[in-house]
Amino acid sequence: MKLSIKTFFLASAFSTAAHAAWREDLPWSDLEENLSDSAILVDASAGDYLAECGGEYDKPVDSFARSNHGLQAQPSGLCLPHFFCAFNNCMVNPDQPTRSITDGLVDTANVQDTQLYSEINSTIKGWIDDPSNPMLNLPTKVLLPTSARDVVAAIRFAKDHGLEISVKNSGHSYTNASSKGNTLLVNMHQYIPYATNLGPIDCDPDALTDSLEDQPCKLSLAKNKTAVIRVGGGENWGQVYKSIQNANKAQSDGYKYHVTGGAAATVSPMGWTFSGGLSGTTAGRTFGFGVDQVLQLEMVLPNGQHVKFGPTEWEEVEGYDMPKTLAVTGLCNAEPFETDESKWVWEDCPEEIPFDDLWFAVRGGGGGSWGIVTSIYLQLHEYMPLERVSMKYSACVADELDDDQAYAWSFVAQTFEIKFLLDPASINVAEADSNACGWPMGDNAFNCYGDGSGARFNEAWKTYLSDNRQSLEDAGISSDVIDEAIACGFDTLTGDTNFDPFSASTAIMKFNDYLEAVAIPDNNPYYPGLGMDIPQPGYGPTFNDGANVLVPANWILENIDLAASLIPPNPYSYRAFGGKTKGSTNDQLNSLSDAHRNAGYMISIPHAYNPDEFFSTTLPAWYDTTNEDDFPGYIGGNHAGINTRGPLKSDWTKACPLEWTKEERDENCISLQEIIWGTKRLKRLEAIKEIIDPNYMFDCNGCVGNNLRKDPTRPPTTAKTTKKPVAAGKTTKSTKSAKHA
Ligand SMILES: *[C@@H]1O[C@H](CO)[C@@H](O)[C@H](O)[C@H]1NC(C)=O
Ligand SMILES: *[C@@H]1O[C@H](CO)[C@@H](O)[C@H](O)[C@H]1NC(C)=O
Ligand SMILES: *[C@@H]1O[C@H](CO)[C@@H](O)[C@H](O)[C@H]1NC(C)=O
Ligand SMILES: *[C@@H]1O[C@H](CO)[C@@H](O)[C@H](O)[C@H]1NC(C)=O
Repeated sequence: MKLSIKTFFLASAFSTAAHAAWREDLPWSDLEENLSDSAILVDASAGDYLAECGGEYDKPVDSFARSNHGLQAQPSGLCLPHFFCAFNNCMVNPDQPTRSITDGLVDTANVQDTQLYSEINSTIKGWIDDPSNPMLNLPTKVLLPTSARDVVAAIRFAKDHGLEISVKNSGHSYTNASSKGNTLLVNMHQYIPYATNLGPIDCDPDALTDSLEDQPCKLSLAKNKTAVIRVGGGENWGQVYKSIQNANKAQSDGYKYHVTGGAAATVSPMGWTFSGGLSGTTAGRTFGFGVDQVLQLEMVLPNGQHVKFGPTEWEEVEGYDMPKTLAVTGLCNAEPFETDESKWVWEDCPEEIPFDDLWFAVRGGGGGSWGIVTSIYLQLHEYMPLERVSMKYSACVADELDDDQAYAWSFVAQTFEIKFLLDPASINVAEADSNACGWPMGDNAFNCYGDGSGARFNEAWKTYLSDNRQSLEDAGISSDVIDEAIACGFDTLTGDTNFDPFSASTAIMKFNDYLEAVAIPDNNPYYPGLGMDIPQPGYGPTFNDGANVLVPANWILENIDLAASLIPPNPYSYRAFGGKTKGSTNDQLNSLSDAHRNAGYMISIPHAYNPDEFFSTTLPAWYDTTNEDDFPGYIGGNHAGINTRGPLKSDWTKACPLEWTKEERDENCISLQEIIWGTKRLKRLEAIKEIIDPNYMFDCNGCVGNNLRKDPTRPPTTAKTTKKPVAAGKTTKSTKSAKHA
């Protein structure tokens, strides 16, 4: 085995006295002996963090230069896309350990995201560069596993010695869940890239056995889909998209496969999927959320068992594309130390594992909490080309509108978007044409799928404009200008990746696939050919106290005018909701909140903005806040802000004061977990957590159970339990169900 031990002494040149390495009392060589040859156990340090990650922050923010591609490739596995979040509460000043959000990140100085690392002022740099700074919250033992064997060894070692594990893939978690001081960090970046190695797998309906090996294809065929892909626990979306693109290019009769995934190439299909998975870029409104794409999970659980599991009993439900999951079957690998997978032995587990509950919990209950996922099988869909449509609605006539008229124009555009996406029948748009389009926050074009989808979108807009010309004329816009806009042709462009939809007229850009649209140009000096990184690394946390609020589609439709004026115009809202995400792609055994299924948009509202009004007026209009035993989940799991909290526990109409310290906020305000999942669903997840991970080996920030662990009155869990929780809403077997496996 290869050991890459960088001693702490080398890296701690800054400090006069060397610190004892974390848990150097433990027999780490026992773990090393059980690792595969290519796995690396790193002794990392704050010095490594600065040396490896600071360099990336010395690149300019523009031109795809500063990127997670660079951070993820660093050898220590420590780099974070939110630089200061290597420190407690993302704050580095050791003299002010407990401060409020309003005190700012690094004392009063605002380190701008655009600033180079080398430009940061010397006082602040002194805090960052001091390895004995008590604010530092980085793990110093990092395992880079390359096979399931390594993950099993790590978890068993952690179990034997009562260690906590933090698990990281892309490190994109906005809630700081990916790494934690005083834990063994398992960074999956070097893990087997199954999607890259194997590509899409076609399902042959005549060659399926009852074994779990064939379960992904069986479930896929039950959904009328003929191909699947296995994704490694350390692969990112960029790699998956590349694998699909390569397979498509190799087809003799045209592209064949489509995968529904995330916008950023550096985001992982693991954390993205397990928090829900919003796809505004790859037809999520037609194919569902990330959780809806999963066919089978392979993971190593806190009990050290290497398992795989997936639905083996389901029933067709009228009106659903996705069969309802009735039963989940799982097996344990009796030979987890075999690196040759063909020698793995899948058999009944030695102890009972509630696989139904795990299937429910992992898909929607967040990454990093239930064990380490080593691979997943995802659904593939029939290929469709991408047509990106500019959202510059006033194209051709923008110069002729004054500010008030531009507002009136964008108001009409807003109401059009609402109806096009959430009530297409009301403007004579076919549901499939509506579902074909969506966008993530910050994009400036609709991503529509299917030949002619862009033209149909444009057609619908021109018709709407014509039908609503009166309201524009009422705003003083001349009839000529409106006619000019309606007659304004649109450009159809192909293959120009530097296209800027905002500056073009009503352009439609055609691409073979999403990766082509976001590929970094080949002449880029930093990361040519890779998929774009969104957002780029920054110093502070993304969103901080910002709240990504899910706005119910019903409310939007009942209050279209109000919604059109309240909801920030594109590109500041997220439109990956409605369409089939409402329900027909839901297998009815996942933990994604109802708020996600019922949402129209997700919008970013900083809680600092009119916070009391938000909780006294806005939220009660959107959600039922009258049941004191069930606070509703209303925050989007994928983009929850690190410091987002609900209202006061004692008064749901009052916001959690930003002036309070984190400790005060945690004690007196409704937790981040509760506002993501809602009280009832969170309780069920917590009950499952107690069974799957009774000792909280996985206790990541903001994750299920993380706030419980800190409750001093919580009795320690020692007993091993195999008792199933009484699962709310548990499916009952139906005689109509088709039996499988
Ligand atoms: C980030 O997570 C660490 C634990 O890993 C915690 O100590 C810290 O308070 C967290 N920061 C925030 C802002 O939640
Ligand atoms: C740098 O910023 C810190 C924090 O705002 C401030 O206290 C300090 O005076 C500044 N130091 C220098 C050298 O500018
Ligand atoms: C190491 O592997 C041996 C079998 O090869 C096993 O008995 C032992 O439990 C393993 N130790 C750990 C910490 O995984
Ligand atoms: C299954 O897919 C094929 C090809 O896309 C389609 O023609 C057929 O109507 C689908 N069948 C069902 C039951 O959805």
